[in-house]
Amino acid sequence: MHHFHYRNGQLHCEERNLQSVAEEHGTPLYVYSANTVRDHYRRLDAALAGLDHHIAYAVKANSNLSVLGLLADLGSGFDIVSGGELFRVIKAGGDPKLCSFAGVGKTAHEIKFALEHKIYCFNIESVAELDLLNEVAGSMRAVAPIAVRINPNVDAKTHEYISTGKAENKFGVDYLAAEEVYQHASTLPHILVRGVQMHIGSQLTTVDPFVEAVERVVPLAAELKARHNIEFFSIGGGIGIVYDPALASGQSEWWEQQAEPPLSPEIYATELVPRLTPLGLKILLEPGRYMVGNAGVLLTTCLYEKKGHAKNFKVVDAGMSDLIRPALYQGHHEIVPVRESAGDSQIKADVVGPICESGDFFCQDRDLADFHADHIVAIMSAGAYSFTMASNYNSRPMPAEVLIDGAEARVVRRRQTLDDLIALEL
Ligand code: LLP
Repeated sequence: MHHFHYRNGQLHCEERNLQSVAEEHGTPLYVYSANTVRDHYRRLDAALAGLDHHIAYAVKANSNLSVLGLLADLGSGFDIVSGGELFRVIKAGGDPKLCSFAGVGKTAHEIKFALEHKIYCFNIESVAELDLLNEVAGSMRAVAPIAVRINPNVDAKTHEYISTGKAENKFGVDYLAAEEVYQHASTLPHILVRGVQMHIGSQLTTVDPFVEAVERVVPLAAELKARHNIEFFSIGGGIGIVYDPALASGQSEWWEQQAEPPLSPEIYATELVPRLTPLGLKILLEPGRYMVGNAGVLLTTCLYEKKGHAKNFKVVDAGMSDLIRPALYQGHHEIVPVRESAGDSQIKADVVGPICESGDFFCQDRDLADFHADHIVAIMSAGAYSFTMASNYNSRPMPAEVLIDGAEARVVRRRQTLDDLIALEL
């Protein structure tokens, strides 16, 4: 569900016409819907109402200060993976005491920064990291709260680059070795055992892998509660979103083979809450994409049309430096014209950017609206892992970001200038 709809033939975000937003701020331009983020937070929170739970939004999905501020206002905690993300949460008015720090490569410097801000928990991914944390905390005469990230060895059935819970992934500690690590942690003077954590992957479109992983880790969590008095179990993030409406509307063959509708917070809760409630632990969730994925679009202008030997190309002013998901994960993003009438005729085409790489495409051989030069199109579902993965490759300034809240459209990050590109160079 989201707040991007055609009204009077024009694509709107909430109350704002995206044609005029693009004309005012230029393209490429990221546009986010504040009410979509709020709705998603509240819907997930409500689905879990029967469970003692807390949502810790995964900052990596979209770390714009205004997006973080929206979530902080709703009472969200934050899943962070770097000192930089903690800095952003603090600047956005988020509470460091609601932050969990994940990641396999935390540096001593980042650990110190997080300890100074008294974060809720460090999610430990190795014994070496645990020992360093104990040392740094000792040097500060502090005690560091920890959870061990368990790798449950479950196939999340998602793209291999975003699957994290299998034995061959770099993440977490093998669940069979977990007790030993907790035993070791309990002997360290500057460590407080506080919880247990897992995260099996991202963009999961069925609930089964979550169920499998939860069932695997619940007995361990119960034992850790008895032995180490842990207070929480974080089940990670990973709830997938609908990128391709054809999949969700029954128009595709793929869809017909699927028995279930797309993964919703309600299905997720129905399956998981009864399995988690008996534990009597606080349950943390770390959703990123679910919260913001469908709350953003990337607006881009068509520069040229080009007929290749075998293909039609639409060259647009956004590139893989602005949105790398299609190039990196074969990610599907719908591409629709901002003026609906541009969609009256269809064409099979590749939508490509200006970057000097053949991987610089937003779609290939797709049937889409036959838009032309100067038309503005929206690349949909670009709220998560889109701006946060942008770069300055080919020395292209990063786009501006606009947050729409009802009828108000606010620039929440200005467009980079050419001077910004070289500002750090000596
Ligand atoms: N918790 C942990 C420990 C994570 O590693 C992640 C995501 C999340 C939570 C949030 O997962 P989500 O709810 O957003 O699925 N760039 C990729 C996705 C990478 C996900 C990394 N970890 C993409 O564009 O698909």
